[in-house]
Amino acid sequence: MSRLSTELIHGHEFYDEKSGIFIPPIYLNVIYEQPNRVFGDTLLSDRGVDLKYSREENLTARALEKVISKLELSDDALVFNSGMAAIAAVYLGVLRSGSKVVIPMEAYGTTIQLLTQLSCKFGFRVVKVWPSTEDVINAIDSETTMVLVETITNPLLRVLNIREIARRVKEVNAILVVDNTLATPLIYTPINDGANIVLHSLTKYLAGHNDVVGGALASRSDLIRELWEWRRMLGGILQPLEAYLILRGIKTLEVRFERQCRNALTVAEFLHEHTKVKEVFYPGLPDSPYKSVADSLFSRRMYGGVVSFRLRGGKEAAHEMLRRVKVIKPSPSLGGTESLLTYPVVSASKTIPAEDRLKLGITEDLLRLSIGLEDVNDLIEDLDQALNYA
Ligand SMILES: Cc1ncc(COP(=O)(O)O)c(C=O)c1O
Repeated sequence: MSRLSTELIHGHEFYDEKSGIFIPPIYLNVIYEQPNRVFGDTLLSDRGVDLKYSREENLTARALEKVISKLELSDDALVFNSGMAAIAAVYLGVLRSGSKVVIPMEAYGTTIQLLTQLSCKFGFRVVKVWPSTEDVINAIDSETTMVLVETITNPLLRVLNIREIARRVKEVNAILVVDNTLATPLIYTPINDGANIVLHSLTKYLAGHNDVVGGALASRSDLIRELWEWRRMLGGILQPLEAYLILRGIKTLEVRFERQCRNALTVAEFLHEHTKVKEVFYPGLPDSPYKSVADSLFSRRMYGGVVSFRLRGGKEAAHEMLRRVKVIKPSPSLGGTESLLTYPVVSASKTIPAEDRLKLGITEDLLRLSIGLEDVNDLIEDLDQALNYA
């Protein structure tokens, strides 16, 4: 295996000997020829499944899966038409009636919402805990089937010690699922620390341009094979154009993310000093309670491209900022080329129950900023002028 920067470019392994083409094409075929003209007689894909129909296997999607499994140090990967489709496949594949799931109460709202709704329908137990390493570990026992944690939580950017959580999960033979969307495999590879399944909303940093929705799972071959069946039955495979766009986006992941992390730290420091700002959340700030665990888990002294902050002027100030930003767009999502200012109470955290939001500190004075690729001085000037109205 080559070094990560090289895998981002060549990890798809695509090469067509007849033409010499080494950029993966957009394969729009739905079907594959049956070689001996007998139905049921098919070629096999490189993971040993029938190559017959594009809801099951598509060669552009497969090229993307190769890159993702190399980045995440897994045996294999699956790509889906959204992060939520990937999460749904995990829930349906891993959980059954009587299962117990542990999840911190700060996680992507729809991740919790889907889990809660499925638990009512299919009779498994969801234990939502305070987002700390200790609380997650204390909730894990011999009845636990699955633990789901995010590498960096959103919007308050907490970092739990996944290495310690993984040790406890292993002791009870449960499955640890890590949503690595905000950290990316550039700074953290959860499988190295004992995670069983890594998931991504590819929509964010991996695709990186706010123009394509996708999701992925990376894991051991046997688990991927089971989850492949769920993707096949649910019809959630990523479409070829989207797979192509994400393959293209991934090539620049390293240069984008390095710049986003560097600029996020500069912006966090600026906000930290600003009189209109009450509190800044960023694991790279020296006074962040998560700095030391982030340093012990993440490589490259990079802490992600998202910064959250609370305004002294409360809800009205937050609304005013959303109205006043110019270069930065008031919009949901994160991880793309455009800097986005988000109001978590009505977007990513909207589906977290109101009482949990309050306990967590996801209140109406809180804003989340995803740093894009603009000049950091323009971002700071834009924030400064908007803060003057706040
Ligand atoms: C951390 C995280 N995981 C999963 C998802 C769901 O991904 P998607 O929107 O691609 O379905 C999101 C979406 O915002 C997210 O932020």
